[in-house]
Amino acid sequence: MDESDGPEGDLIQVLYLSRATEPMSESDLSALLEEIRERNERKEITGLLLYGGQHFYQILEGARSAVTTTYAEIEGDRRHTDITRIAIRAVAERKFPRWWMGFQSLNPEEIKNNPVFHDLRNSDTLAKFPARGDDFFEVMYAMYKTNN
Ligand SMILES: Cc1cc2nc3c(=O)[nH]c(=O)nc-3n(C[C@H](O)[C@H](O)[C@H](O)COP(=O)(O)O)c2cc1C
Repeated sequence: MDESDGPEGDLIQVLYLSRATEPMSESDLSALLEEIRERNERKEITGLLLYGGQHFYQILEGARSAVTTTYAEIEGDRRHTDITRIAIRAVAERKFPRWWMGFQSLNPEEIKNNPVFHDLRNSDTLAKFPARGDDFFEVMYAMYKTNN
């Protein structure tokens, strides 16, 4: 992804999912979050990260250049693989302004019961239901609203 990729506008969001290379323990996750939040505060990147069933689901938002650079770094991170970008879009305002990166664990039941989480893992389904990107955003945004 480079800076000319995606829609026009200076504030952008990127939504992706990926698979952790190794299962993440509680302490792996808290170390990762501490690293992420320190970096994001500096770069003014906000968003939400979910982890469950060895998959990550993340929304990053911020200035186009900051998000573009960070996403490229994330893609190169060996702690995860099969990184699939679901959407990149311009937004008029931040949707997760209070979180340098919110975090929530998903349990297997939540993943099983919510089509957004299991469908996204299957690229055929993703092609069939392109609106899943919007559903993904809505589910994540609802989590933010519940907590803010
Ligand atoms: C699932 C996942 C999400 C991440 N999210 C962010 C993020 O939001 N912001 C950020 O700066 N780094 C994030 N990172 C960390 C960067 O990938 C990592 O700090 C960067 O690649 C630099 O690594 P290095 O210090 O080994 O060079 C994330 C990593 C993983 C595995």
